[in-house]
Amino acid sequence: MTDTELKELLSTCDPAAQQELRARAYLCKLKFIGPKISVRGLIEISNICSKNCFYCGIRRANTHVKRYRITQERIVEIARWAYEKEFGSLVIQSGEIQSAGFADYIENTLKSITAATEGKLGITISCGEQTPQVYERWRKAGASRYLLRIESSSPELYHQLHPADHDFNTRLACLKSLRELDYQVGSGVMIGFPGQTLDNLVRDLRFFEELDLDMIGMGPYIPHSETPLGANLKFTQDYRLHQLEIGLNMISAARLLLKDINIAAATALDTLDEHGRILGLLSGANVVMPNITDTQFRENYQLYEGKTTLHESSGNSRDKLIHQAAAIGEEVLWGTRGDSQHYAARHCPTPTAESKPSTLAEG
Ligand code: 5AD
Ligand code: SF4
Repeated sequence: MTDTELKELLSTCDPAAQQELRARAYLCKLKFIGPKISVRGLIEISNICSKNCFYCGIRRANTHVKRYRITQERIVEIARWAYEKEFGSLVIQSGEIQSAGFADYIENTLKSITAATEGKLGITISCGEQTPQVYERWRKAGASRYLLRIESSSPELYHQLHPADHDFNTRLACLKSLRELDYQVGSGVMIGFPGQTLDNLVRDLRFFEELDLDMIGMGPYIPHSETPLGANLKFTQDYRLHQLEIGLNMISAARLLLKDINIAAATALDTLDEHGRILGLLSGANVVMPNITDTQFRENYQLYEGKTTLHESSGNSRDKLIHQAAAIGEEVLWGTRGDSQHYAARHCPTPTAESKPSTLAEG
């Protein structure tokens, strides 16, 4: 696909053309993945963050947020619940802290989860930039995937989105080191933030391709009033609709370009439309991440305003997903890790190298 073609896909706004694009991307998903949804239980373990990204509601300078860190014991209990409810995978996410204490906390938590769940859960970590040594310790303790969004593949835009002490090249080096440590590596961008053009998004897609990523986690930018970027933005209905459209177009374009990789339908889509996540799946995504954090913590983990699952219990999220999947004729892969096929194919590049999902029953 040429850059011009990619740009055309991204600029689709006529409803009939949008339908066609989503149908094409969905067919591509059916071909490479099947009518299947992989599921990861998301645990937002801590909102303590040393960074000050200009767009994010839990940035260090936002003093209106009550900071928390969930205890290791409680995280293991949640993981055990998830395992019993046949979530095949977890995502452990937090703000970014680089300290010996934090590295130990994650490492010990990973070891305890692995012991409590017989090592059967696929575990993704999303805890920001760390040293290669820390990444290696976490990998050995049981993490097999890492999600680190580049936010924008344009160094100029990256610098516009972040204070001067946040470094684009450090982030790239982290992604490289994660790959060297044999993680399944995921990255992604924010879609539709002020100053970003369609050409930038085309570049982002090429960046995903060049890095040969295993997973994509990307979502539309949604303003937060307690941030420098969001403070003066009016989030009108038109703006909301535009963010939804560009978010879905980007999922479809990524599926058509990158074919067999795991693409998450970001929960931010649900903030833009009550069926946002389902639209994401119908546009080519194949992964959902229901929030299974204790509800008491959720209002203090609002990266953007309007997060939808503030009061929804983990059990309800699970039931809702079952109904939503049935409504679109898709199967939820309960009890299956849902590892990246793309990763499996890179490790075993034969024509029959489809990843054989390791189910809990199979071990
Ligand atoms: N809108 C959408 N996504 C956001 N993130 C942070 N703030 C926002 C926002 N206002 C995303 C970033 C980050 C991830 C954890 O959440 O991409 O990497
Ligand atoms: Fe911290 Fe991540 Fe938010 Fe940046 S985007 S302020 S690193 S939680």
